[in-house]
Amino acid sequence: MKVLLTGVAGFIGFHVATALLNRGDEVIGIDNLSDYYDISLKEARLAELQKHANAAKFTFLKEDISDQKAMSKVFDKHAPDKVCHLAAQAGVRYSLENPFAYEETNNKGTLVLLEQCRHKGVKHFVFASSSSVYGGNEKQPFSEEDRVDTPISVYAATKKYNEVLAHAYSKLYGIQCTGLRFFTVYGPWGRPDMALFLFTKNILAGKPIKVFNYGKHKRDFTYITDTVAGVIAALDNPFEYEIFNLARGEGVELMDYIKAVENELEKEAEKEMLPLQKGDVPETTADILKAEKLLNYKPKVNVQDGVKEFIVWYKEFYKV
Ligand SMILES: NC(=O)c1ccc[n+]([C@@H]2O[C@H](COP(=O)([O-])OP(=O)(O)OC[C@H]3O[C@@H](n4cnc5c(N)ncnc54)[C@H](O)[C@@H]3O)[C@@H](O)[C@H]2O)c1
Repeated sequence: MKVLLTGVAGFIGFHVATALLNRGDEVIGIDNLSDYYDISLKEARLAELQKHANAAKFTFLKEDISDQKAMSKVFDKHAPDKVCHLAAQAGVRYSLENPFAYEETNNKGTLVLLEQCRHKGVKHFVFASSSSVYGGNEKQPFSEEDRVDTPISVYAATKKYNEVLAHAYSKLYGIQCTGLRFFTVYGPWGRPDMALFLFTKNILAGKPIKVFNYGKHKRDFTYITDTVAGVIAALDNPFEYEIFNLARGEGVELMDYIKAVENELEKEAEKEMLPLQKGDVPETTADILKAEKLLNYKPKVNVQDGVKEFIVWYKEFYKV
């Protein structure tokens, strides 16, 4: 199968591309290498893909998904069977600072890709949504059947837009669309703006870590290999239109997550306790029954093991 994968230089995109190449699929990877975080990490991920045993099946194109002409050329030249759309301007907090970056990539970029699918006959579109669409919903765990009309960040609003837009395209043009609501994904090659990376970096440097919501956050931390298995299952099992939670299915207190990092580093963190940030939700725990049933999704990795894998990677990559 030939998959057009957007966000290939990103954390999740890199791992999904690796998994697709591992089983011999062809990957047309798109990324504009945005400077939202360290570009050299994105380049290092691409270098890994270019060294893969099946690298002959990997093509990287530095393109912006919101550029209609560029995307039209890519679809014409490469004629993908499926689209796996993981590119985004990610991050809840940054969406308060720079909302237009979210408008351009998440809203316009997704529309551009769906238009390409429509006109170039691509019938299967798998895309990243987010647990943030549940907004301030108090009922836990979050289920796909819950209402998601009350986002509390611009980022979340764009992800909700992606879901409803994909629904319209599935109805109008018969494009099979699957939206995946990821929940705090972590693991090797992870994002420098996310908690685990920041905690590890600061603890190793002897600097304080910022603990928002006074540590009362609860997150459904999901290890990258579990997320990737869910994405691959979604690519292999098209539905007319479905939305799935992809998580571990277990809320973990932020302080326990920090404890796992401290244990692994054998060093206690100096903690700066701070209030809940605007746009952040206090708890995200997922009901994953639907993915278990329809995608045969079975998360395997717990926080202790996952954090350990991340730290092994971090120390080796940054030569600490
Ligand atoms: N990591 C998580 O915990 C998490 C949680 C929920 C949802 N998500 C979603 O999963 C997807 C992947 O996230 P990630 O953690 O790998 O983020 P990431 O930032 O590491 O990857 C996104 C990639 O998209 C690229 N990109 C941004 N704008 C682009 C554009 N206009 N054109 C082409 N490429 C562009 C970036 O350069 C980056 O490499 C995103 O859609 C994100 O919103 C992630």
